[in-house]
Amino acid sequence: MYREVGRCDLRIIAHKSAALAAENFMISIASKGIDTYPMEGFDSKRVKKILGLPKKAEINMIIGCGFRDKGGIYGPRFRVPFEEVYRAM
Ligand SMILES: Cc1cc2nc3c(=O)[nH]c(=O)nc-3n(C[C@H](O)[C@H](O)[C@H](O)COP(=O)(O)O)c2cc1C
Repeated sequence: MYREVGRCDLRIIAHKSAALAAENFMISIASKGIDTYPMEGFDSKRVKKILGLPKKAEINMIIGCGFRDKGGIYGPRFRVPFEEVYRAM
């Protein structure tokens, strides 16, 4: 049971859980060869209207999904070398 149960605490917990679920979704769908693109910056009013969600609803993030273009959209993709960001303990 959470110790923090105020309205604000529960909002944070819900957003954390939604973000973790989104990450699971992104990792799972990657295993099927589909790339994802999480976005936190969007017009929430418009999105809620399009999806028919209540005004008070909160959208955690939007995830675009699709198949990558081998040449990249704006040019070759840049990735920090895996060994530079991951260490097995
Ligand atoms: C937490 C988070 C929030 C992001 N929010 C946005 C966003 O609001 N708009 C956007 O264009 N890209 C956003 N991005 C970046 C894209 O989702 C994407 O990961 C990035 O552009 C790298 O694209 P690539 O994998 O094709 O190189 C966000 C990334 C993360 C991790």
